[in-house]
Order: sequence, then structure tokens, then C-alpha cells
Amino acid sequence: MYKCLIGEMTASYAKGGLKTVSGYTGWTRVNTSAYQSATHGSRYVNNYANKAAARRYAKFEKAGPMPAGSVLAKDSFAVRPDGSTSAGPLFVMEKMTAGFSPKTGNWRYTMIMPNGAVFGTTKGKGAASVKFCAECHMSMGEGQDSMTFLPEEFRKKF
Ligand code: HEC
Repeated sequence: MYKCLIGEMTASYAKGGLKTVSGYTGWTRVNTSAYQSATHGSRYVNNYANKAAARRYAKFEKAGPMPAGSVLAKDSFAVRPDGSTSAGPLFVMEKMTAGFSPKTGNWRYTMIMPNGAVFGTTKGKGAASVKFCAECHMSMGEGQDSMTFLPEEFRKKF
């Protein structure tokens, strides 16, 4: 299903104009197959890390603090009880330089809707709408730079 939807999904996300995530499907994908994420609307998701982030992110809980320029992208799609599918939002975390936003651990959270509209971005348009991202990530990812990682059974071995 992911393979069927990916073309449509990436074309829509691109309309959001967030250049740091362009070509994210070519980054390091850390999950073996799409998995259901209760914390992201129970959609099926995939996690990708860009070049600056991949080496550390692939160590999961042992990653340590991420360098500025790290980008983590999580795309999503929904499967309804009748089997029909639809693209979901793209969830993005970008590690900015120190001082950008200490309240969010200097991560910029962005949510791009399946139609390409930016729902919100930390310290930018719709910032209030993405406050809940940091709130949850800061609490669940305490001591691991706000990262929360994926269930063990879906992790790729690096
Ligand atoms: C209620 C808690 C919660 C909320 C709210 C939440 N997340 Fe997450 N997020 C998680 C958890 C748990 C994971 C890892 C497991 C998974 O994928 O379900 C995760 C994983 C991620 C990842 C992969 C990087 C990582 O942490 O390992 C990104 C990117 C991400 N979330 C972005 C967002 C964005 C953007 C928002 C807001 C629009 C958001 N999240 C809202 C809990 C949350």
C-alpha cells in the first residue's frame, strides 16, 4: 500500500515548500515496514533520517544529542476498516542551531497536510497548532534529545 501511495504523498508534501525535506524518501529509512503509530493519529508511518542525522539516529536510544542540520521525517497514511487508504500528514523534526527555541529543545516541528498545506511550524506560521508535538516529545524523549524512536520489532538492524 505504501508503494502505491508514495508518489502521490511526496508530490503533495512538496507543495508545502519545506526544502529541507525534499527527496526524503532517498534518506536512511530506519523501519523495516510501515507500522501503526497511536501517537500520530493511529496512521501507518515510516521514519527517515537525513545525512546529518542518519549515523546517530540509527543507534536509536544510544543516539545522543543530534547536531544542528539533522532532519527526521515521518510520512503517514491511513487504512480504513473497509480497506481503502489515504495519504496522511508528513511529520518533520529539524534540529536548528542553539538558541532557536530552547522551549522545544531547538527542534522545529512541522506538520504538512496531505494536500500540501503547512498545518503549523515551530516559531512560524501556525506555531500554536504544533505546540503539542514538542510537549509530547519533550516528555517522552527526556534525556534523549526529544526523540522517541520506533517500536523495536520494526527497527532495521544497522
Ligand atoms: C502524544 C505524543 C506525541 C505527539 C503529540 C507527537 N509525537 Fe511524534 N512521536 C511520538 C512517538 C512515541 C514517536 C516514536 C514512535 C512512533 O513512531 O509512534 C514519535 C516519532 C516522531 C518522529 C520520528 C523521530 C523520533 O522522535 O524518533 C517525528 C519526526 C515526529 N514524531 C514528529 C512529530 C510532529 C511534527 C508532531 C506534531 C504534529 C508529533 N510528532 C506529535 C510521540 C508523539
